[in-house]
Amino acid sequence: MTKIDVLLGLQWGDEGKGKIVDVLTPGYDVVARFQGGPNAGHTLEFNGMKHVLHIIPSGIFHKEKVNLIGNGVLIEPCIFRQEIRDLEAKGVDATQNLYVSKKAHLILPTHRMMDAANEQAKGNMKIGSTLKGIGPAYTDKIARNGLRVGDTLSTDFRERYLLLKEMHVRQAQTLGFDLAAFRIDGMSLDEYERQWMESLETLKRFRFVNSEYFINQCLRDDKKVLAEGAQAMMLDIDFGTYPFVTSSNTITAGVCTGLGVAPSAIGKVMGITKAYCTRVGAGPFPTELFDETGRQLCELGHEYGATTGRPRRCGWIDLPALRYACMINGVTELYVTKPDVMNDFEKVCMCISYEIEGQQTDEIPFEYNTVEVKPCLTAYEGWQQSLAGIDAYEALPAKLKSYLDAIEQQTGVRIAAVSISPDRKDVLFK
Ligand code: IMP
Repeated sequence: MTKIDVLLGLQWGDEGKGKIVDVLTPGYDVVARFQGGPNAGHTLEFNGMKHVLHIIPSGIFHKEKVNLIGNGVLIEPCIFRQEIRDLEAKGVDATQNLYVSKKAHLILPTHRMMDAANEQAKGNMKIGSTLKGIGPAYTDKIARNGLRVGDTLSTDFRERYLLLKEMHVRQAQTLGFDLAAFRIDGMSLDEYERQWMESLETLKRFRFVNSEYFINQCLRDDKKVLAEGAQAMMLDIDFGTYPFVTSSNTITAGVCTGLGVAPSAIGKVMGITKAYCTRVGAGPFPTELFDETGRQLCELGHEYGATTGRPRRCGWIDLPALRYACMINGVTELYVTKPDVMNDFEKVCMCISYEIEGQQTDEIPFEYNTVEVKPCLTAYEGWQQSLAGIDAYEALPAKLKSYLDAIEQQTGVRIAAVSISPDRKDVLFK
């Protein structure tokens, strides 16, 4: 029996997971998503083309690989249908190699409405949600109200759908939400609902499976399986910067509950980090830069959300957060992305510890949201050269290698590879 390898983001998302999965996929037989939903935007670039995936695993472009949407994932049928259409337009027929867990929960149109209603009700405590209905759909899952993919095949599906919808409408009315004015992608709720119902037919073209049996059989058959995380460690519902988090376990433990594999079946844990740091949405971000350097990171790094288009907040790499991520996830190797964004910088900084109320600490405090967390920075000389054309880790500029060495020393985890451009060919293994 083989073990399942895990790949996840160690910061606040957008570390370049989709691209690294795509590069690693040739070494795997199966790629499986275990949590999150269309709040994710995994960007892949190859042959001069850019592809953004939201729900579908990043192995889909390799037609001989099996892709699995696990029980821990949320599926929004309209967004799923659009993804399938986008793939078809690129000549990719996913019906042959995409499997969907019967236990994956559905995002209803009214979950999206409730997301908007909840955010509105929060006033200046807004989370900055992607408004894809993630929080409300996971809430219904935990409250045991949810509808699952397998339920779409049952005769009372519509009845159960209407009951749940009614409940959401009542909740939204209690919050004083203006239902009549609410639009999803420019459509009224009724119009969107029609699209949503139609989209279920696209979903039903795929093979629904008991994914826990499916994945364990793959492992027994010695297939190589990669679990692809979405969002990232610092957005984890338990260990992230609560309440400014997403509503799922984004960590290694989420692989066990989101796919149905035992903890002892976990193999390598590959953690992705940018060479700097970004965050989209509200919440603490101690190393955030509000100056010209922050603006440069945003512009040069094209730091705009793949799902919402929002500009991302940018700052220096945060080692206390990264060490925390390595501890919680049992990271066995690091992948560092986007150092090339800082090619022209005279100096590059790293936050080594925090200062909170005059005390230095290496720990992520419980009071992360409410106290001032000052980053203690160490500056490194910039490498100030283009990385274009470099095709081996050893050939990277010495100053960049010192910076990468410092990340290894600070986390105690070895760097497996560094990615120096959006293209899949520019991942240099150490
Ligand atoms: P939600 O999961 O859409 O409710 O969003 C909750 C928080 O997580 C917000 O701050 C979002 O910006 C953030 N978030 C959700 N998904 C992603 C992602 O894939 N990348 C980066 N941030 C995300």
